[in-house]
Amino acid sequence: MEDRQLTYPIGLLSYYREAELRGADLLQRLLRKADDGELQIKLTRHLADEARHAWQWTELICELGGEPAALRTGSPQWLRRQVGLPSSILDLLALTQVVEERVRQRYREHAARPGEEPRIVAVLQTILGDEEWHLAWVEDWLAKAQKKEGRTRVTAALDHYRALEVNAYAELMREEEKLRAAEVSLAIVPW
Ligand SMILES: [Fe+2]
Ligand SMILES: [Fe+2]
Repeated sequence: MEDRQLTYPIGLLSYYREAELRGADLLQRLLRKADDGELQIKLTRHLADEARHAWQWTELICELGGEPAALRTGSPQWLRRQVGLPSSILDLLALTQVVEERVRQRYREHAARPGEEPRIVAVLQTILGDEEWHLAWVEDWLAKAQKKEGRTRVTAALDHYRALEVNAYAELMREEEKLRAAEVSLAIVPW
């Protein structure tokens, strides 16, 4: 197992990159389950966006002198451990919605930080443009599911994943503080 020093902002961008890749994982799982054409189209476009976002962070990490690494710790992994692998489309989309809400809130907050490196802000803004559509179409699908499956089932799934995600996000905040405070050694998976 290789240990590498990841400092701010490369360490933080590595978390963002990891989160985009995890999002792409979730969408691939959804694509294997979705049986209607309309859903296949939306999921494929969504997957293409998340893969591009992971690439944008990868490019920037390299441009800033860092090297991409697969993280072994941090909030995306924490969430995965807590959530496991939901099997229904409704659960997977509720989880996607919760994760997307956080991404938008987090990227907006980060883009507004005074004195932030302009190249980081530029990538955040570009990605934020795509995130609006992600939230809109998933929200729309969940609203239709409420009519079919009942409000309680959808609300319960959203509440469940929101409660788990809050803890995962707290994990990211702790990691970010460590990254800012000093050089920390994060366990990474060598490619
Ligand atoms: Fe994304
Ligand atoms: Fe997204």
